[in-house]
Amino acid sequence: MADSTDGSSSFWTQANALFRKNLTFQRRNFKTNVRLILFPVFLCLLLVALQYLVNIELDKPSLKCGCTCIDKDGDGECERVCGIEYSDLDQVATCSIPSPPEWPPLLQVPAPQYRAVRTDHLLSFGDFPDDSCTSTPSSCPTTVLMTGNNQSLGENLARNMFPGSSNFNSSNGLADVVLGSASETPVSNILEPAFFSSLPVYYVQSQCQANSTFSISVPVGSTKVEKEIRCVQGQHLWRNRSFDINNELYAGYKRGNSEKKINEILAGYDFLNSNVSSYDVIVWYNSTYKNDSGNIPIGLVRVPRSINWVSNAFLQLLLGPSTQMLFDFVKEMPKPETLRRLDFSSLLGPLFFTWVILQLFPIVLTALVYEKQQNLRIMMKMHGLGDGPYWMISYAYFLAISLVYMFCFVVFGSVVGLKFFTLNDYSIQFVFFFIYINLQISLAFLAAALFSNVKTAAVVGYIIVFATGLVGAGFFQFFLEATSFPKHWIVVMELYPGFSLYRGLYDFSQYAFTGNYMGTHGIRWGDLTNEHNGMGRVLIMMLVEWVVVFFIAYYIDHVLTSGSGAQRGPLFFLEKFKNKPSSSFRKPASSFRKPSLQRKGSKLYLELEKPDVVQEREKVEQILVEQDTNHAIVCDKLKKVYPGSDGNPKKIAVRGLTLALSQGECFGMLGPNGAGKTSFINMMIGLVKPSSGTAYVHGLDIRTDMDGIYANMGVCPQHDLLWETLTGREHLLFYGRLKNLKGTALTQAVEESLRSVNLFNGGVADKQSGKYSGGMKRRLSVAISLIGDPKVVYMDEPSTGLDPASRNNLWNVVKRAKQNRAIILTTHSMEEAEHLCDRLGIFVDGSLQCVGNPKELKGRYGGSYVFTMTTSSNHEADVENLVKGLSPNAKKIYEISGTQKFELPKEAIKIADVFRAVENAKRRFVVQAWGLADTTLEDVFIKVAREAQPFNVLS
Ligand SMILES: *[C@@H]1O[C@H](CO)[C@@H](O)[C@H](O)[C@H]1NC(C)=O
Ligand SMILES: *[C@@H]1O[C@H](CO)[C@@H](O)[C@H](O)[C@H]1NC(C)=O
Ligand SMILES: *[C@@H]1O[C@H](CO)[C@@H](O)[C@H](O)[C@H]1NC(C)=O
Ligand SMILES: *[C@@H]1O[C@H](CO)[C@@H](O)[C@H](O)[C@H]1NC(C)=O
Repeated sequence: MADSTDGSSSFWTQANALFRKNLTFQRRNFKTNVRLILFPVFLCLLLVALQYLVNIELDKPSLKCGCTCIDKDGDGECERVCGIEYSDLDQVATCSIPSPPEWPPLLQVPAPQYRAVRTDHLLSFGDFPDDSCTSTPSSCPTTVLMTGNNQSLGENLARNMFPGSSNFNSSNGLADVVLGSASETPVSNILEPAFFSSLPVYYVQSQCQANSTFSISVPVGSTKVEKEIRCVQGQHLWRNRSFDINNELYAGYKRGNSEKKINEILAGYDFLNSNVSSYDVIVWYNSTYKNDSGNIPIGLVRVPRSINWVSNAFLQLLLGPSTQMLFDFVKEMPKPETLRRLDFSSLLGPLFFTWVILQLFPIVLTALVYEKQQNLRIMMKMHGLGDGPYWMISYAYFLAISLVYMFCFVVFGSVVGLKFFTLNDYSIQFVFFFIYINLQISLAFLAAALFSNVKTAAVVGYIIVFATGLVGAGFFQFFLEATSFPKHWIVVMELYPGFSLYRGLYDFSQYAFTGNYMGTHGIRWGDLTNEHNGMGRVLIMMLVEWVVVFFIAYYIDHVLTSGSGAQRGPLFFLEKFKNKPSSSFRKPASSFRKPSLQRKGSKLYLELEKPDVVQEREKVEQILVEQDTNHAIVCDKLKKVYPGSDGNPKKIAVRGLTLALSQGECFGMLGPNGAGKTSFINMMIGLVKPSSGTAYVHGLDIRTDMDGIYANMGVCPQHDLLWETLTGREHLLFYGRLKNLKGTALTQAVEESLRSVNLFNGGVADKQSGKYSGGMKRRLSVAISLIGDPKVVYMDEPSTGLDPASRNNLWNVVKRAKQNRAIILTTHSMEEAEHLCDRLGIFVDGSLQCVGNPKELKGRYGGSYVFTMTTSSNHEADVENLVKGLSPNAKKIYEISGTQKFELPKEAIKIADVFRAVENAKRRFVVQAWGLADTTLEDVFIKVAREAQPFNVLS
């Protein structure tokens, strides 16, 4: 960074200038900012509204422990009592259950219409019941398949399992009957659904008698549930191998809804090598009977009875029929009253909040790309803003916005009571969000290098926001919850910052959700060591990524031209260690070029150098040899070649320009469109690097010391580079501060500047520049280029689009300004060039055709006067004779009804002779009007441009 002794501003001055500008800019953007902050507020409100609706739904009596009204003490007034006895299956989950009811253990009996019968061709065994039973409701028997190595043992066991009809004795309790149901099993077995559904409870026997229904009752709380039990015929079928059973079950599995399979079995047993001294059994059961509400197979509640059933049969085989191993009941654990609580913010949290936080990304990105697209970054750089202050202030500024945004988000979310915020430790939230937004801003800086258009950046940015949220919620979360998914792949996915954000938010919401459900708290610092959450890991990953991304972004910003003008080599940071080329002039090449024939491609290119151009070259060489630093700008064979692309040949924009400008000189650059003037200016202001040659500005090389040059440079670009929402005064204040103006000096300079470009009256200075007319913007640009007394100023067509009055004004400003600085100015207005410039150069096809002050040029290239005379038409011949008399080489260039124009070679005539001749002529005939004019600059320009053109055709 240049220090302030050479007039350039310090790091902090620049930072201060940029900071104040951004602050003003942000004040103007107030509405957008409010809208930005309102987005999370809106989302939080939406969540609160949804939560409210969910709570209303959960508060409905149908989801709370059932209650009723009983008149307990008989006084006619009823009292409200609640408990499982008044609840249905949905309600019971919330009840307080000090002593859960005891339920008889049940088998899962296939519903009558699904029981395996002999119709299905897939079943290769003919011993299933005949399908005629399907015509009578519920009359099909249910089947148990058995296999093992000792069939007679199996048959004996089966006999014990299916008792004859006579064995049922209701007074013995329910333990010695085999009960079963076709109903689905619930998540918890507090109430056995078999007793509450319309499906019957069965008891299994080998034969059913006609009158085979009984009634049983199970005590539930203070009441009893009565249920009718109905006999179902059970039978067993022996298979040679367990493989056969597998095949049959596989074939019987329901495939698709359209196939109405009717081959479910009650259970399957493989007795393996069992004998009287050892008992081995494998049980087939169907766990698919369950409510669809969970992922866990919960049909297992019907399995224990099937094991007890066969074990009991084995025991009876060993010890006789009177032996019984009774399985009396199953019951749940007691539980306190639980409230149904569902925190919606935790449920939807990860997705919504990922969006909320990610949406800052496109905002930062577009702000950065905007400055790039509008070339404002370059403009600021050209007026001396270093990369350091730019990065510091921009970064701090986006960080501040993000922090405010997140602060509003968390505070508002907490105020409206979202559990996501209130239950989790705030310090963890702060650390998490802080690291993430820093990472996000660094990423935006990095991404900004890839875009040059705000709209593209915005579209891509928002696509990333939505895609990350959706993919996060759709896939990433699925992988997180899938227990079998390899953990290291999750870590790999979390390398993408969007997913680390999602992961963090997911952990927050999981902790908040369970915390809310259990009535405890969310995540605490101690939980970070728990391997089941990714929070600790994600924090570390994001922290590392932040640092890495930040430095990559800073590096790329320097290497790519994007923000900061001319390209540096990818190893730019090594340049500091290399031997820096000294800022003094190099030794010039030995001799100047003589008119030469160059071979160029396959064509001959004739380069005829004009004496004035050669002279300029000699002057430059002299300066370089003498290391004369009095000159403000010295260009030494500056050359720019654009490489060819898409099959186009390479384009030579500037063919070795050599030029020297002293302090206090205004150099005008004239030239037809496309002559290379802008390429030249772009090289001088550091936007592009010269292909060869160089230029020195006050002894500083444009190839290496651009930062030093910027401190003393002013630019008025061809297109106005202004912030639409800042006023003229604010622009000047900003650039003035960048140029190290302070306090009263600053205000004074700004006032003067405004006055000089006529932007002072009528409050124009305090209007936003977006509302300025084209001319006003132009004047402001000129004022910007001159503020802070730069030593070198480049103006690219400063007066285009100005009305004559403002133009005159502007000229005065430039004239006054050129006293102590060098100005290079391009223009298409000859009048302007003549008025302002001390020297002119006509630039055609990449090289200077002539250099000199306007008078010299006119003298050199004009070389003739234009003589005009108007008479009546019958004296035309007299006029011609008169002109011939003055100079035999005169050319008639124009004639119409008595008015004639001639070109007279200057060297041939004296002006006095012309006057004398006219006086004589007046005596002979009536001269209505006459005139003698010198050639104008315009004539010179056209002539020079035309002369240079033939080479254009060649090259
Ligand atoms: C099969 O089991 C019966 C008892 O049910 C036993 O008497 C017989 O010896 C066993 N057969 C073999 C081959 O083990
Ligand atoms: C049922 O069992 C009870 C007691 O165990 C017995 O007194 C009664 O006779 C039995 N009834 C039948 C029909 O076997
Ligand atoms: C089972 O084995 C018996 C005797 O080995 C045989 O007769 C019968 O065909 C076999 N059944 C099947 C289905 O393979
Ligand atoms: C298991 O139970 C499910 C659910 O009712 C049923 O669709 C399926 O067919 C049964 N499978 C067998 C082999 O019985």
